[in-house]
Amino acid sequence: MNQFDENSEFVRRKPTGDGTSQTPPAQRESASSDVRSRTYSGIRPAQNKVQSSGRPLRPIGDVRRPAPSGTGARRQAPAGSAAGASSRSASEAKPKNTVQNRKRADKSKSRKTLVRNLLVFVAMFAALLIIGASVTLSSLRSTPEKESKNYTLCYMTAGDEGTEIQSVTVNKVLYMNMTELAEDCGFTVSGSKASLRFTADKGEYVEFTIGNVSAKINGDIVNMEGAALIRDEENVWIPLSFAESYFCGISFDKDEEKRTISISREATSGTSSGNAEYADITFRIKGSAAIQGIDEDPSIGDIETPEFQNDLSAYEQYMNPEDRDAYLILVNKTNTISSDSVPDNLIPIENTRTDRAKEQMVECAEKALEALFIELYSAGYTDVSVTSGYRSYNKQVSLFNTYLQNEMKNNPSLSEAEAKEIVLTYSAFPGTSEHQTGLCCDMHNLSAANVSFANKDAYKWLIENCYKFGFILRFPEDKTEITGYSFEPWHYRFVGRYHATRMHDLGMCLEEYTAYLSRVPS
Ligand code: DAL
Ligand code: ZN
Repeated sequence: MNQFDENSEFVRRKPTGDGTSQTPPAQRESASSDVRSRTYSGIRPAQNKVQSSGRPLRPIGDVRRPAPSGTGARRQAPAGSAAGASSRSASEAKPKNTVQNRKRADKSKSRKTLVRNLLVFVAMFAALLIIGASVTLSSLRSTPEKESKNYTLCYMTAGDEGTEIQSVTVNKVLYMNMTELAEDCGFTVSGSKASLRFTADKGEYVEFTIGNVSAKINGDIVNMEGAALIRDEENVWIPLSFAESYFCGISFDKDEEKRTISISREATSGTSSGNAEYADITFRIKGSAAIQGIDEDPSIGDIETPEFQNDLSAYEQYMNPEDRDAYLILVNKTNTISSDSVPDNLIPIENTRTDRAKEQMVECAEKALEALFIELYSAGYTDVSVTSGYRSYNKQVSLFNTYLQNEMKNNPSLSEAEAKEIVLTYSAFPGTSEHQTGLCCDMHNLSAANVSFANKDAYKWLIENCYKFGFILRFPEDKTEITGYSFEPWHYRFVGRYHATRMHDLGMCLEEYTAYLSRVPS
């Protein structure tokens, strides 16, 4: 029987609202039946704490006004008070002090004028601010409208003028209505509101997750210029450049003057007069697609051998395996791993935390990790250890369910589905965790894994050096939109030195890199 794993991951909960799931709907729906109910009170995700400035806050009712000073204070004294009496008797007793009184009156008058001027100035300034803000707001509101109808997309069907599909610009990216195009092209639409798949005649498909910049083409992940959006009564809108790059059998002809883009089915023979034959529409990653912003260095293929403080020559075969692509497997929310998949060469992790039984990893990854720890310890970070390695499918079931129970316990107003959305931002649904590959581990020097590890020098050493041993930080802070998980400074994945170095140099996470590789002409 699988015990709940005390050494399992423990993550800071992200604020609700960020919990958009990218897990396939079928998996989400089966959660409650798949996941065995189990509670565990020893571990609970750390809460997002608002940092206090350390300054005591004054209650609102405790606002102190400065005391009125000088003559004003005396003037406000109640008529029957001692101050009032003395002030009154003084003025009655000394009528000859009229010059002084006039001076005082002048002073008071000039103060009043000053105050009035100040008030006028403040009022004018406030009015200017309000006018400025409303002008900015209205221009902001009107900008998308003004910019939106950039082009008219005309979907051309044989022999007719075509259906008009409007384009819009969002964040300077030209978008098109994918749902409308799908209707015109006869694509089959399946999936849920959050994740929709469009399948063409021959079975090729393209899948968009709303709010996500990566799309899936027949199982491969490709990044788009902008995230897939829902507009106009649940139509899916996607960057036009994505369709231009990956939709085959359709051509997109831009007419800058007329501001139109004609979308037409490519003819394979004949003309458009009626007897034409048209190409099948397919979606595929075209080998010739341009790679934006990346210049392929022709010398790539030779990566430098790093210098180490220790003699790690015995570990070289593991850190830099001969079969350099053997460890590039991608397991994530959309690339699942079957429930019965178990790596066949698991060995104990030497550097497992001493308070638990040895965790396990695939041999090559474990040996490379040993080398990493030799250098890490030499650098002085001797308190870092591994808290989680390979996790079976059942262990992930148990872990995921524990998180789910904890979320619901901590916030009883959440429905199970809502709690699940939250958990999915930090824990993989069973069958989608790369811990099941035996190629990754969690390591840190805290009592439990927590984002605060990112503030430790040991973390800095790891992110600067892990690639030399063949490891990558799997869920970086700036890639959460792509990986689908919140930042995990403790989770490292073995891919081998060659790919780890390239990912390091290109600044890509595993999703980006595997998509990139499939686009680089070989
Ligand atoms: N925490 C990572 C995403 C996992 O559960 O595999
Ligand atoms: Zn992990």
